[in-house]
Amino acid sequence: MNILLIGSGGREHAIAKKLSESQSTDKLYCYPGNPGIMEIGHKTDIAKMDFQQILNFCNSNSIELVVVGPEKPLAEGISDVLTCNGIKVFGPSKEASRLESSKGFAKDFMLKYNIPTANYKIFNSNDKTNAIDYLEKCNYPIVLKADGLAAGKGVIIADNIENANQAISQMFEGIFDNAGKTVVIEEFLEGEEASILAISDGNDFITLPSSQDHKRALDGDKGKNTGGMGAYSPAPVVTSTVMNKVNERILKPALDGMKREGSIFIGCLYAGLMINKGEPKVVEFNVRFGDPETQAVLSLFEGDFAGLLYSAANGNIDKSKMIDTSDKHSCCVILASKGYPDNYKKGFEIKGIDKAIKSGAIVFHSGTKRTDNILISDGGRVLGVTCVNDTLKKAVEQTYNAVSEIYFTNMYYRKDIGYKAL
Ligand code: AMP
Ligand code: GLY
Repeated sequence: MNILLIGSGGREHAIAKKLSESQSTDKLYCYPGNPGIMEIGHKTDIAKMDFQQILNFCNSNSIELVVVGPEKPLAEGISDVLTCNGIKVFGPSKEASRLESSKGFAKDFMLKYNIPTANYKIFNSNDKTNAIDYLEKCNYPIVLKADGLAAGKGVIIADNIENANQAISQMFEGIFDNAGKTVVIEEFLEGEEASILAISDGNDFITLPSSQDHKRALDGDKGKNTGGMGAYSPAPVVTSTVMNKVNERILKPALDGMKREGSIFIGCLYAGLMINKGEPKVVEFNVRFGDPETQAVLSLFEGDFAGLLYSAANGNIDKSKMIDTSDKHSCCVILASKGYPDNYKKGFEIKGIDKAIKSGAIVFHSGTKRTDNILISDGGRVLGVTCVNDTLKKAVEQTYNAVSEIYFTNMYYRKDIGYKAL
């Protein structure tokens, strides 16, 4: 079949690679893509992220499956437009995407369906006095979350009441634009984080290997929250007992609940977990693959990935399309631009990718651009260097060896990806 992949980051590069390696794929088109993705996929004539244009492209190019990478077009209803015109989409409807696009919706949903998560209250900017009163009664630290999409930046952890008051004022005043006009205030959860990606056809699902992201910018989980500085898979904190609890208490009730709400969920349900003494609680749901978890997780995937996603989009998931790879381990280290997640410079030539690939690594492009045939840095997260090996220790060592081959001005990366598991 012909497939169209939407997105332009490292996650989409990893998805593109697996789709292109799948036996079910004839022609893979990618929009907008990036230099790494376009080494694999075909160009489109789509000029902008306009759903009607995307639909026209699908009709003229016999596209049988559209795979949507990022959350924004999902939250804006790309699946609804394509699906009601007869095109199969791997990625949820606008209504089902509320699990990510409204943290308040997700929290109320979890409460209703008894899914374990942190205690919380929701306030909006008209309600500032009550929010401030509430913050006086809280135990600290406390977590404040912008309700809407904020590119992974909308969460503030406040250690004391002064910081909490300041954070809520800034959110209500618009540091996250309208996304922060409603704020979830929730209990701080202790424990170790892990991510689970479930491929769902709305009724049934299959989980990919567990993973652990490293959200903070600096070694030892210091510094600011980022989109993610590296990941490894599988994550030993997700034992088979924990995984059973995640299936029974989180994924099944979430998918059943969405069906009952009339918002059947087809796509990748990402459960961001906090695991404390073997008990998983949901920190967040996302409605798409994680970045950089996908680079680590899909590097382990064997089977017919395109066939799996098509069967899910078609409402009849075929789990035999995925082959067990539980004896393998992967590690992905993000090479970022100094200053990220705040301001950073871009436009620096990237050298050494060939050598890294020769050493056995996969180098996923996140923020790169080609000008005059020179590859330059073009984002906060620039590359995701990834290796697969028999043990996590070997995968980590191999990844850092490959990283040492690559250079661009202002490059920085964490030196401790995987340390919690080693
Ligand atoms: P989110 O965007 O909701 O995943 O939050 C971003 C990051 O903030 C998470 O990956 C956690 O590291 C942290 N975080 C969010 N909620 C909580 C919580 N209730 N307790 C502790 N840490 C949290
Ligand atoms: N790595 C976290 C996310 O994709 O939201």
